[in-house]
Amino acid sequence: MKYLCSNCKMFKYDEERGDEKTSLPPGTKIENIPNSWRCPVCGVNKYYLQPLDNQTKEETEIKDLTYYRDIARKLLTGFCGVYPVCDGDPDHICTGQKYGAPIGLGGAGQAKTFEANYQALQKYRLMMRVIKAHHEPEMSIKIFEKDLKIPVMGAALSGVKSSLKDAVPEVFFYEGLLKGARNAGTIGMVGNTPTSPEDLGVKTVGENQGWGIPFFKPQSQPRLLELFEQAEKLDVLATGVDLGGAGSTFWVTPEKQVFRKSEMELQELVDCTEKPVIFKGIMNTEDAATVLDSGASACYVSNHGGRVLDCGQGVAEVLPEISKEISGKIPVLADGTVRTGFDVLKILALGADVALIGRPLARMAIAGGEKAVQMYFDYVKDDLRRAMILTGCDTLQEISENILIK
Ligand SMILES: Cc1cc2nc3c(=O)[nH]c(=O)nc-3n(C[C@H](O)[C@H](O)[C@H](O)COP(=O)(O)O)c2cc1C
Repeated sequence: MKYLCSNCKMFKYDEERGDEKTSLPPGTKIENIPNSWRCPVCGVNKYYLQPLDNQTKEETEIKDLTYYRDIARKLLTGFCGVYPVCDGDPDHICTGQKYGAPIGLGGAGQAKTFEANYQALQKYRLMMRVIKAHHEPEMSIKIFEKDLKIPVMGAALSGVKSSLKDAVPEVFFYEGLLKGARNAGTIGMVGNTPTSPEDLGVKTVGENQGWGIPFFKPQSQPRLLELFEQAEKLDVLATGVDLGGAGSTFWVTPEKQVFRKSEMELQELVDCTEKPVIFKGIMNTEDAATVLDSGASACYVSNHGGRVLDCGQGVAEVLPEISKEISGKIPVLADGTVRTGFDVLKILALGADVALIGRPLARMAIAGGEKAVQMYFDYVKDDLRRAMILTGCDTLQEISENILIK
């Protein structure tokens, strides 16, 4: 089988011949090329090698991130422009007041919180530091007794019908998110949505061999307890409640309303299950302290990608204070316009243990399912590795605010 590097489009790899320059002996199959291998022309990793010599157009087409982004752009016409940077820019087609129309991939109101996430994170720059003995960065992390290859997970996503133009069946979307993450050595999450069967997300997570986390909207306490009971019986790594979903007021049917949750209700949820519980939507230190007191296993700093409360703060503005409050006690998860491995490094430096990615994975899952999702994780991983080398961080523990300049 022959392959072409889809980045430089110059390097060709023939499995039969191997590659002398990069020490691949003849007969080295693509799956046996080590992850540390780099294209001798442009330096990208092996995932950019795409099949060349199959006869069908389908197979000869180079399927890289640009390819999948182009597909997503077509599938999401009118909803998402798949712009070079997904940052809540007021000129993007996803933003601006919707006057009751579906939110799509944008933000609530005028998408000022979505934009604030980006602005707050980009305010920070990374300090380059290259004089230090070289070590391969150690990026793996243990969470809920699971070893992950990277400190990055897929954020909870759902709502193909309502937010993603009904582009693919909801189950294809969930499977893409979950299997793509698992193939990349990490965890995917799925949410629940009023526009598809309520247990579809949790059931699909349960079929992913323990590599996934279902997130539920903060529905009535009796209903949430039922959903937790269902999750308990399935092979899920943890169970989450997206407390910011109290603002998902499109949940309007009588049986599917959403509510704020009290401290006692949080405790009841933690106590009703053996699974680790994550509370998401934490944007201030008081709420973070309450999450800690509830006995939850992780605190997830997020404003739901700016999709529930407009005119709010960016995650990077509140993350340092929150993580000072709870860091080392329970893991801190955080999301909000994390797009690259460089963004991951910044979020970790601001105090998170794990960075999560939302919209880019939604586009990948729609356009190419698990393969595209895995490719996005690999792209992020590659840049995180580079960023750690160039900021003098050999381990995740060495990442701190010292590598940031404001
Ligand atoms: C289309 C879409 C659907 C989402 N569905 C859910 C959901 O069902 N449950 C949930 O907790 N969060 C949901 N989120 C929020 C994400 O989990 C995440 O917090 C947010 O997208 C992070 O910001 P980013 O997209 O800028 O990376 C959704 C986000 C998008 C864009």
